[in-house]
Parts: sequence; structure tokens; C-alpha cells
Amino acid sequence: EASAPHVFVIMGASGDLAKKKIYPSVWWLYRDRLIPENTMFVGFARSDLTMKEIRDKCQPYMEVKEAEQERYEQFWELNCYVRGSNDTQRDFELLNQKITEVGTDRANRIFHLAIPPSLFVIVTSNIKKFCMATKSGWTRIIIEKPFGRDSESSSKLSNHLGSLFKEEELYRIDHYLGKEMVQNIIPLRFGNQIFEPTWNRDNIASVFISFKEPFGTHGRGGYFDEFGIIRDVMQNHLLQILCLVAMEKPCSTAADDIRDEKVKVLKSMDELMLDDVVLGQYVGDPEGEGDAKDGYLDDPTVSQGSATPTYALAVTKINNERWDGVPFILGCGKAVDERTVEVRIQHRDVDGDLFHGQTKRNELVIRIQPDRAIYYETYGTSYKGAKLPLAYERLILDVFCGSQMHFVRSDELAEAWRVFTPLLHKIQNEKPKPIPYKYGSRGPEEAYKKLAENDFKYSGSD
Ligand code: BG6
Repeated sequence: EASAPHVFVIMGASGDLAKKKIYPSVWWLYRDRLIPENTMFVGFARSDLTMKEIRDKCQPYMEVKEAEQERYEQFWELNCYVRGSNDTQRDFELLNQKITEVGTDRANRIFHLAIPPSLFVIVTSNIKKFCMATKSGWTRIIIEKPFGRDSESSSKLSNHLGSLFKEEELYRIDHYLGKEMVQNIIPLRFGNQIFEPTWNRDNIASVFISFKEPFGTHGRGGYFDEFGIIRDVMQNHLLQILCLVAMEKPCSTAADDIRDEKVKVLKSMDELMLDDVVLGQYVGDPEGEGDAKDGYLDDPTVSQGSATPTYALAVTKINNERWDGVPFILGCGKAVDERTVEVRIQHRDVDGDLFHGQTKRNELVIRIQPDRAIYYETYGTSYKGAKLPLAYERLILDVFCGSQMHFVRSDELAEAWRVFTPLLHKIQNEKPKPIPYKYGSRGPEEAYKKLAENDFKYSGSD
């Protein structure tokens, strides 16, 4: 019912994700009156912290304007903290008491799990046992990747979660689905007449979805080395974008209608082989500045001689009537020359070309990062300037509203892992040596050869 209180619980409240993304996002939602006024916030973590200490940690990320000071104070008054250990049942009883105390026994509860994956099982079990909403309230669980590391481990986790919660209670975050431009893909394709008639194999030669970051592992080497760029970015963020670009028109904008169409795209994809990919690993640039001097293997948290790729390019195919034969190329790299995430859709060359190949190939660019833009060669619309909510802010609001459209459903996740698991196992077992590329370069040249072989004419990003 509309007036029921909400309690938003941040599990892992003392961590990095909490301070950088979650506290700021809930503050902005509260500031802009997008979530119910009677929402209370409870932080839970192992460290012995006061609310003041949490507030100080978050401060640099909160972006508080002068005129918002009063509202900001009110926000913190709605916050409290429970110190507890993730595997102590008594602590979850205390957490439950706190939730009931601040929110009454009618409250709706959202648990955001900002914790390492090794704790997913124990924490969700304890929430289920001790902290579920009673009476009329609902409970929703937000979880963050990694959702396993291959099909088997992911399905084990899914089974565990499925035994505790209904799918409607689970919100698997892929924060790329919260980005403005990613959310724009469906309206762009299905909300106007310009693109859809040519959105097919007769007119499109290739699609390149690319993610580039100009920095390396930045002290996250320990986590990264275990997962690698394919699990970190490609199997989730890039594959989600691919689904939105390639899917058929859903029968409505209801969450499950959209997710049904995305699953169909994934089901039409073959499992990837080693031949479909180019793998790279950055090495230091002796002439570079600062971090650029260090290669991946110089990071002390990375295992010695590691063969973990920090760059990957994969050529995928979608075997259906619309896309048969069109390469969908996914590329991602750390420590490369720029910070961009974009989709480049290249149209087939025209017959009877008046310009004898002198013009650039017709290319529709959907730029997701750093600025948002859609442009067609030189003509285009750009959405610069407006204040747009951040991915996390949008997604957390969706959880309050019970909208699962921009979250990953369990069958979607299973299919995404199916496409990548054999490849990941091959990489793990055969340890193909990743091709070295210099920190700050555009990535291994072999990747560009592969693009050319797959009918993508690379002309650099502009
Ligand atoms: C995360 C990855 O999911 O996405 C990081 O773990 C990556 O390695 C990040 O840097 C990129 O997100 P964004 O929103 O900064 O593009």
C-alpha cells in the first residue's frame, strides 16, 4: 500500500561500492523526492563504525549543493548502522530488529548486496532466515556481479537464490542497463520509422560494440586476475548491449516481454571458440607517464606470469533470419588510448558507388560513454547538457517501483554464460599467451585485422 514505509538496507556499508555508488545514489533519489519520504536506510557491515564515519567516507561522492544542505542533513537522520558479521545469525536477528524498529513490521525491504561474491550464499541465507518482510510488506534483493565464473558456478548460485527467493524478488544489476544511452536503444529502434526498416542483414554489414578504458587494473588486480576482461566486461555489459541492438520487437515494454526477446538473441548464438577471439595483455610503456610505465604483470596483486587477458575482441554471430552472416564484434580493453563505449553499426557499401570507395563507410554510432550521442556520419542528435541520473540511481529507483525491465533474468544469465563458458575453459586450460600491447595504445593490431576480416572498416573513433 502506498503509505507503507520502506527500509533500504546496504549490506557491505563500509565498502567501496557503498560509498562510491550506493549512498550517493540513494541520497540523490531522496533529494529529488523520487523515493517515498518515509524511507529509512540501514547500513550493515563488519567494521566498528559510527554513522558519522560512514558519512565522512561518502562525503567526496555525494555532490551536495549549498541549497541542499538542509535536505542533506535530513537524509543522514534517516540513516543508521548495524555492526555485524555476515555469518553470525544473532547479528542478523539484530539487523531484523533494527529494520522493524525504524520501519515498523509493515515495511517493504530492499537489501542491496554490496559484498564480495564469496559472501552471497551465506548472506542471502541469513536474510531469508531472519530478515524477510512480514505482514503486507515485500522484500527485494539487489545483487551485483560476478554471478559465478562459468555456467556451472552461475547455475549453482542461481539454484541457491532460486531456492530462497522468487524471481520477482531478485534484481541482478548490470549497471550498463541503467545508462541513459543503453536505455535509449529500444526507443531508438522501435519508437520511430527511420532505423527499423534497414536494421537487418540486407543493409547492415557488421556491428562493433566497443569498450575502452585508458587505465589499468588500478589496485584491483587481485579481483581482476581471477576474472579477466571477458568476465569483467564482455560477458555482461557488452553482451547486454548486443541483445538490445539485435533483439526483435517485444510485444510490449513489460519487463518479461523485453527479457524474453533478449533471451532469444542469446539462444541464437553459438558458443565461442578460441579462433573467434583475439586476447591481449597490456605491458608498460617506458616512455609513458605515471601508471603507464607499469604493465599488468607489474601490479603486485596480479599472480606472477599471469595469462589473464586485459583486452579481448570476439566475433559472434546471431543465427536468425534478421542477422544470419552479420558479424557482431565485441571488443574491450583496459589501459588503451581512450575512454569510450560505443556501438558502431556499419551499413553495406552501396552498389554503383559514385565515390569509388573514397567516402567513409555509412556508420551509425551510438555513443554511450563518455558523452552520450547518436550520430550518423556527420549528421546527428546529441543529448548533451541535461542533468541525467546515473545508472545506479535509475536502477535503484526501478527496484523501489518493482520494475525488472533493466535487470538480468536468471535464464538470460544462464544463456550468457553458455556462450562464453567453453571459451573461458579453453583459456583457463590452454593458457594461450595474450598478445602484449602497450599501455595507452589502441590495443593489439591483430584485433584490427580481425575487424577487417569481419567486414568492419575501422576508421578510428572521432
Ligand atoms: C565494471 C567493471 O563492471 O565496469 C570495471 O568491473 C569497469 O572493470 C567498469 O571499469 C566500467 O564501468 P563504467 O560505468 O565506468 O563504464
